[in-house]
Amino acid sequence: MAMTHERYWPGYRRPPEGTHPAYLEPRYVSTLKRAPTKPLVLLPHTLSEITGPVFGWNDIRADDHDLTKQHRGEPIGERIIVGGRVLDEEGRPIPHTLVEIWQANAAGRYRHDIDQHHAPLDPNFTGCGRTLTDASGIYRFTTIKPGAYPWNNHPNAWRPAHIHFSLFGPSFCTRLVTQMYFPGDPLLERDPIFLSVPSDLARCRLIASFDWETTIPQESLSYRFDIVLRGREATPFESPAGGQR
Ligand SMILES: [Fe+2]
Repeated sequence: MAMTHERYWPGYRRPPEGTHPAYLEPRYVSTLKRAPTKPLVLLPHTLSEITGPVFGWNDIRADDHDLTKQHRGEPIGERIIVGGRVLDEEGRPIPHTLVEIWQANAAGRYRHDIDQHHAPLDPNFTGCGRTLTDASGIYRFTTIKPGAYPWNNHPNAWRPAHIHFSLFGPSFCTRLVTQMYFPGDPLLERDPIFLSVPSDLARCRLIASFDWETTIPQESLSYRFDIVLRGREATPFESPAGGQR
């Protein structure tokens, strides 16, 4: 009997309304140039979108999760732990999946040629890390709290402190690129990228919670950032139209 892949490989639910930013967000000026001008063509989820690819298992080094140990000296800034769980659209943990982060240093400067902000670089901080979730879907990084930085979106524009995240999950359909923010940041209510996420509840899912239980005395404070790949409680994309600040 002929069997179709749809019978055995059900597709993922489509993103719910109010979770992800619109492609065109006038306050986020770059979207004016890159937002699609024609309706999108929705492609069916076939075997290749649902079952692969899987990245990174062989490429993770022991210290990749600790951004404070990648150079001879310690970086300047407030040492923090950032960790949480990665869940699927049914609330189940996603084990052994790649989580990557990149961020500015404590002064709000990226180690990148395009970043010419006149804040100092830190010779002991690159700002990139990666790790795999464990069998329970838990990940954990040690890093430095990033600084806010100015950008050219509008007069006196400042990005709130944030950490960029990339996750592949188990398939093409679960790829997520987003930004994690810190609780209580006064710049959040002025940030067009954060505000481009349509609903208050979805925006709240981009803000880490201060996690007293996992702080390390005399060492570091801790933040928890749980991530949901797709589904009703999905973590919003930073911008489906691409681009990262
Ligand atoms: Fe950024």
